[in-house]
Amino acid sequence: MYQQHFGLTEKPFNLTPDTQFFCQLPPHQEALNVLLIALANGEGFIKITGDVGTGKTLLCRKLLNELDAHYQTAYLPNPHLTPAGLGKAIADEFSIAYAQSSNQQQIVALLNQTLIQISNRGQQAVLIIDEAQAMSLETLEALRLLTNLETEKQKLLQIVLFAQPELDELLKHKCIRQLKQRITFSYSLRPLNYPECVNYINHRLTTAKCRHANIFSRSALKALHYYSRGIPRLINILAHKSMLVAYGRDVHHMPKPYVLMAALDTEDCAKSLRYRHYQKTTYWVLALLISLTLVLDAQGLI
Ligand SMILES: Nc1ncnc2c1ncn2[C@@H]1O[C@H](COP(=O)(O)OP(=O)(O)OP(=O)(O)O)[C@@H](O)[C@H]1O
Ligand SMILES: [Mg+2]
Repeated sequence: MYQQHFGLTEKPFNLTPDTQFFCQLPPHQEALNVLLIALANGEGFIKITGDVGTGKTLLCRKLLNELDAHYQTAYLPNPHLTPAGLGKAIADEFSIAYAQSSNQQQIVALLNQTLIQISNRGQQAVLIIDEAQAMSLETLEALRLLTNLETEKQKLLQIVLFAQPELDELLKHKCIRQLKQRITFSYSLRPLNYPECVNYINHRLTTAKCRHANIFSRSALKALHYYSRGIPRLINILAHKSMLVAYGRDVHHMPKPYVLMAALDTEDCAKSLRYRHYQKTTYWVLALLISLTLVLDAQGLI
């Protein structure tokens, strides 16, 4: 592909959340700080929400890398489970042996034993759940019950939830209000603003060792930010497609039209492209009507 063309060691805008590409942007850095501080404080529940593609899974992986040996972590990337399935998945993560026929109570008892051992070793157990919006109300309630496992001084299990904003809708249900009340720290990832978007693109290009400087023109960067709405995954898709166009035309720079072509070819962006064109057309039609009225008025025709 275009790696050789742009002198890159790898694809700079891959969609996989790769921590090697992590860029310390204010929203992600703030979220990471909230997580590290809340975990160090021994908080029971911590929640990070963000729209689709804002970087939750990458942050999850970054957190797992950042936590030192003081923390014993369990990671559930897909918590679409029954309450019993959840218990078993957590047990698996903490390498707890159990009989397949074990019921939920037996699993919780085994988990309790293991968590006490972890605590006695001076460590802290942390369960990190991605895609938490996929959990049912019953499974969320089963999760809350796990934070009842505690010594007199501290929680035996801290839980970090990463989720799309739909989780907040789930938390409005009366039946899990106790869980909602226990979320003492939360952070909502916002989309990137324009300077952050430029930093983000430059950071990814530099990490992939791009040999050409300023390959996106200023207007192309503006368009990238506008059509991606500052959402990192959409920025990646548009930047990647723009680079493909440049590669196809054997040039080393991306002007704005390449980004527009990429946006037109990307379902999630084409809507704002059409809307913008609609806005522009409306503007020119209105301007024309106003000028016409002024001319007719000057001529005393109206
Ligand atoms: N701070 C960042 N630095 C570098 N890359 C980032 C950053 N934030 C997001 N990305 C990139 O944006 C893309 C989308 O990120 P990710 O998959 O983590 O989003 P998500 O919020 O988990 O999306 P979904 O809600 O669909 O699960 C990935 O390629 C990821 O590497
Ligand atoms: Mg994700």
